[in-house]
Amino acid sequence: MLHVDHIETFYGETQALFGTTLKVAPGEVVSLLGPNGAGKTTTLRSILGLSQPRAGRVQFEGADITHMPTHKISRLGIGWVPDDRRVFPSLTGRRNLALGTRRTRFRRWSQNEMIEVFPALEHLLGRECENMSGGELQMVAISRALLGSPGLILFDEPSQGLAPKIVQDVMRTVLRLKDEGIACLIVEQHALAALEVSDRVYVMDRGRIIHEGAAQELLDNAPLRRRLVGM
Ligand SMILES: Nc1ncnc2c1ncn2[C@@H]1O[C@H](COP(=O)(O)OP(=O)(O)OP(=O)(O)O)[C@@H](O)[C@H]1O
Ligand SMILES: [Mg+2]
Repeated sequence: MLHVDHIETFYGETQALFGTTLKVAPGEVVSLLGPNGAGKTTTLRSILGLSQPRAGRVQFEGADITHMPTHKISRLGIGWVPDDRRVFPSLTGRRNLALGTRRTRFRRWSQNEMIEVFPALEHLLGRECENMSGGELQMVAISRALLGSPGLILFDEPSQGLAPKIVQDVMRTVLRLKDEGIACLIVEQHALAALEVSDRVYVMDRGRIIHEGAAQELLDNAPLRRRLVGM
């Protein structure tokens, strides 16, 4: 479904990605782990066209999207839950969700279905996002991504700043999406929580993929996991 093929992405003259290569199959959940500054966010930005790779290419369902503008990429069915959530603070939850609503060739979601996934959302719809907690904002950000009708969602640290119980809720949501056939690429500091819901994992360091394999392998092999992701 997604093929990131030897991309090299720069910020000015500083190279952040050195031939990064990864794949996500339809309906697959894949973790992208690694230390701070490894290039995880840059990889997601490169997929979304927010930072354009200078070399290599990105394909989505066989189409070359490397130099496509971001709004077109999202209309093809790639959703994004950014690390800073990026909601419009002065607008209500409902308005933010409406702004994210889009049609693609993939399954459509309604606001009511989002309330089934996150019951607490019902009480957030009428509230301005600037008055929401981190966990509440995250529910809005994930719901907004789903209303964009994605076939693939890129999560950038969805659990950042959330209580352990909410981290589990977020990971359960990922499994629910997988049941619906939606593929997920998850960047996460909570490596164990991410591995538990993932099929496969890539580990990055200094702009390069240094490990690729089954998530279960890293769950089972504690020494290898400690060496690769430090926990
Ligand atoms: N806007 C920017 N301008 C210049 N350099 C940047 C910019 N954003 C990121 N970088 C650099 O690119 C490299 C990769 O950063 P990136 O944000 O992709 O890492 P990351 O793996 O997401 O880290 P973290 O876990 O801290 O979020 C780092 O060396 C970083 O300093
Ligand atoms: Mg990051």
